[in-house]
Amino acid sequence: MRFKDQVVVVTGAASGIGESAAQLFAAEGAVVAVNDWRPEAAEAAAAAIRASGGQAFALPGDVSDPDSVQANVQQVMARHGRIDVLVNNAGMIDYQPAEEVSAAAWRKIMAVNADGVFFWAQAVARASMLPRRAGAIVNVASPAGLAAIPNNVGYVASKHAVVGITKSLAVEWGRFGIRVNCLCPGITETPMVQEVAARNPVMWADRRARIPLGRPAAVHEQAEAIAFMASAQAGYVHGLIMNVDGGMMSLFSGYSLTAQTQRHQAQQAPAAAGAA
Ligand SMILES: NC(=O)c1ccc[n+]([C@@H]2O[C@H](COP(=O)([O-])OP(=O)(O)OC[C@H]3O[C@@H](n4cnc5c(N)ncnc54)[C@H](O)[C@@H]3O)[C@@H](O)[C@H]2O)c1
Repeated sequence: MRFKDQVVVVTGAASGIGESAAQLFAAEGAVVAVNDWRPEAAEAAAAAIRASGGQAFALPGDVSDPDSVQANVQQVMARHGRIDVLVNNAGMIDYQPAEEVSAAAWRKIMAVNADGVFFWAQAVARASMLPRRAGAIVNVASPAGLAAIPNNVGYVASKHAVVGITKSLAVEWGRFGIRVNCLCPGITETPMVQEVAARNPVMWADRRARIPLGRPAAVHEQAEAIAFMASAQAGYVHGLIMNVDGGMMSLFSGYSLTAQTQRHQAQQAPAAAGAA
């Protein structure tokens, strides 16, 4: 019960990693505000938590709209008087070659993935965390916040922004007792990823083949990392950009694991296989 009686907001919590995190916080004693821009899905996710004995309520709203974020924060403050933990998880993805990205598509993904993280963090800090000199914020970025993936310039740029926002807020707000950290989830079995995999199975098989642990993550494995960074057990963890990726970012991108499995060939021809 690491979060007993704490008030936790999770954005984009009607699905995937956010939903799993909301369930975990509730199971450990928190009252969870289930934000999502799909109101019925948010209500269903909150109802499922209540049905299993937890405390949760739906908080429909669009993270990219500062007025909506402000209204959401006021709703939680009116109801509970404080926000102890904010998980900025809501996000979207959009695969397009850079030369084909429209201005509208660029603005939309930056608005959801980057603006939304900043708007929520600023609103929660102003309303609750700065006055109380306490709080924990966990932002969800991506390996695409650390390196580029092709045909994804908006996603890559917006997730790099999430990493930058995390570092900036950690530097500015640490002295006020607000810890700010960031999760970079590796490939995780969620609706977002299943949709991408269905659209491009060849790319998907290639990406799976580069995970040293040999499998995608389950959503609860990401939720556990989020909960740790938000918990008192992580009291000195601040400004951390944490990869939870099955070792994916430890693999030099010029190599594939298929080559590694052909190790016996390398042993027979070390000079040819050895140069990096
Ligand atoms: N699944 C992965 O492999 C993976 C890898 C790296 C990063 N991520 C990141 O993890 C986060 C969660 O991803 P997921 O895979 O669970 O996705 P998901 O699509 O299953 O869930 C995302 C949720 O966010 C909500 N949402 C989207 N835009 C919103 C907005 N403007 N306002 C409020 N809610 C909004 C959606 O309705 C959805 O319920 C995202 O930020 C994503 O970029 C996921």
